[in-house]
Amino acid sequence: MSKAKSQYQCTDCGAIANKWNGQCADCGAWNTLEEALNTGTGKAANPRFEGYAGNSKITSATDVSLSAQARISSGLSELDRVLGGGLVHGSVTLLGGDPGIGKSTLLVQCLANLSVNHSTLYITGEESLQQVAMRAKRLELPQEHLRLLAETRVESILAHADKEKPDFMVVDSIQTVYTELLNSAPGAVAQVRESAARLVRYAKQTGTAVFLVGHVTKEGALAGPRVLEHMVDTVLYFEGESGSRYRVIRAVKNRFGAVNELGVFAMAEKGLQVVNNPSAIFLSKHPEPVSGSVILVTREGTRPLLVEAQSLVDTSHGGSPRRVALGLEQNRLAMLLAVMHRHAGIAMFDQDVYVNVVGGVRISETAADLPVLLAALSSFRNRPLPADLVVFGEIGLAGEVRPVANGEERLHEAAKHGFKRAIVPFANKPKSSIKGFRVDGIHRLHEALDLLD
Ligand code: TYD
Ligand code: MG
Repeated sequence: MSKAKSQYQCTDCGAIANKWNGQCADCGAWNTLEEALNTGTGKAANPRFEGYAGNSKITSATDVSLSAQARISSGLSELDRVLGGGLVHGSVTLLGGDPGIGKSTLLVQCLANLSVNHSTLYITGEESLQQVAMRAKRLELPQEHLRLLAETRVESILAHADKEKPDFMVVDSIQTVYTELLNSAPGAVAQVRESAARLVRYAKQTGTAVFLVGHVTKEGALAGPRVLEHMVDTVLYFEGESGSRYRVIRAVKNRFGAVNELGVFAMAEKGLQVVNNPSAIFLSKHPEPVSGSVILVTREGTRPLLVEAQSLVDTSHGGSPRRVALGLEQNRLAMLLAVMHRHAGIAMFDQDVYVNVVGGVRISETAADLPVLLAALSSFRNRPLPADLVVFGEIGLAGEVRPVANGEERLHEAAKHGFKRAIVPFANKPKSSIKGFRVDGIHRLHEALDLLD
């Protein structure tokens, strides 16, 4: 096959150019020309605008067979959970994360488990066949039927897959894969996008479930400016502190399940192990109550999770005081401190405020508002909160405490772990009381402060 001459397309207006240029001649935008496939029709083939209809025909919804939606277990219960109950045939899952966090380890484990009853193909573009095989051996995984291929040219990958007909396929990683139709180097946006589009089309046509491994850039986006996220069915991110052995997988997009679902793993001698009672690991055990620590109940995805947030408030010695939030949103912390000043009369503008969520988990919901303020206040006054207390609730700019979803479920999780007391938004008070568990419902921020005085 002769190489088609390259074309360039403006990502803003879609205009086609035959030569790369810093500025689009049509709309005048800068740095928007990207290499695109030459289709010979005067239109560039941009996979973003391509459907998967192929030669299908129109059917009524009730006639569509739903059997393809059956779930297959990956052998790792926490991975099944983030996927929404298991793997789906024909689905494409993107697994992103920092280098060394455990993406290859997880997928080798998953594929080896599946290879016992299904046909599998692991395509490695980064490690050698020996490295992959050695890891599978060291982890004592079932490997007799695990098929491996070291290849990075997408045309060759698809040709092998056509012959092998795997039920499950892993491509590790998408940034190493390239198509001979484009001139740019592997890893370039156009290459990543076109290769992924081919693999997605393959998955949809054959019913093969495909995993794509993606690297994350320093800014936290999947390299190839998020171009992959809307092409695939499910996007999973690996999170975790480099020092900690715990790893969290979060579903940030899922066509087959809840978003923000968390799966918790521990990196151990024998690879990634499922953590069955995750609440326990995000609480540090203090022999006696310490100031600045609060236990909050967050609900990421479909399960409540007890998490410890810590705060340190200390006199500031610079021009502007520091607001540092790890595992939480920084701007929200600044906003919450402003609300506390305005509506509860507690000023921290001459204090540095640090907040950290224990265990490297990220909290993306507003239920952490009230706990964060109480942790900061506890550190500021050097007065510990009761050790058997949990807190959750959103705070509005008017100083009101707003209810959060699934309050009752959160309270039961706290009671299950031996907590005796909760301060929550008034509307989250359960209708029937929980035995041995006192719940204080509040409407406004200052009521929480009164309760703790
Ligand atoms: P890896 O899966 O290679 O990361 P990625 O594919 O995301 O780049 O993870 C490798 C890391 O995990 C490495 O730092 C060593 C550690 N590890 C263990 O601690 N135990 C194990 O059993 C394995 C396989 C890896
Ligand atoms: Mg890897």
